[in-house]
Amino acid sequence: MRVDQFVSQATGMPRSEAVKVIRWGQVLVDGVKITKTSTHIDPTAEVLLDDETIVLPGDIYLMLHKPVGVVSATEDVEHQTVMDLIDHPHRHTLHVVGRLDKDTTGLLLITNDGDWSHRITAPKSHVPKTYLATLAWALTEEGAEQLRAGVQLHGEKGLTKPAEVEILPDQQARITISEGKYHQVKRMFAAVGNRVGSLHRERIGEWVLDAALAPGEWKVLNRDSSD
Ligand code: URA
Repeated sequence: MRVDQFVSQATGMPRSEAVKVIRWGQVLVDGVKITKTSTHIDPTAEVLLDDETIVLPGDIYLMLHKPVGVVSATEDVEHQTVMDLIDHPHRHTLHVVGRLDKDTTGLLLITNDGDWSHRITAPKSHVPKTYLATLAWALTEEGAEQLRAGVQLHGEKGLTKPAEVEILPDQQARITISEGKYHQVKRMFAAVGNRVGSLHRERIGEWVLDAALAPGEWKVLNRDSSD
């Protein structure tokens, strides 16, 4: 890969900035000063910028316990974003896998692997997502049956796909859906005459929110295990 591309990806600086530091002689590759920005280097080479080793980010997979009040975006002019909570050296390479509403808490996956996030969020993948909803009124068995069978959401074609629904004490319900329409869970409960007071995502596919993570905390995911 080109040396300016390497420096930009490894540090997060824009390519124009990387070009400058290379031209100014601040970059050594395997002990040799490189000043020509188009030079091709081995991605496994030892690269120093101002005498500090810099490395490519590689594939990164994180799990975050999203707290209430932050938005699931990389940048936002008005609100704190989930990325503001991620103190990671390669933070600049990361994006959020799907979204949660500002007032929804729970599991959020974050990565720099676009293929992986696409596989999880693509509608045809039907990856199940489980939410714990605290409702305005206790869910009736009839309401649960309607949700299981599929309900009509305003402005959508056809019914929602079959969902798993569990009625819990204290006006709570657990629901698993395999779609990701806008505000889907809140709209589904509204369609059966209820209202979501608070919503918490517990699971996406094989990934379950680690109970040891407090709201706002995150950890690196080991993709070979189903934590
Ligand atoms: N469904 C919603 O209504 N909100 C979320 O944040 C996630 C799913």
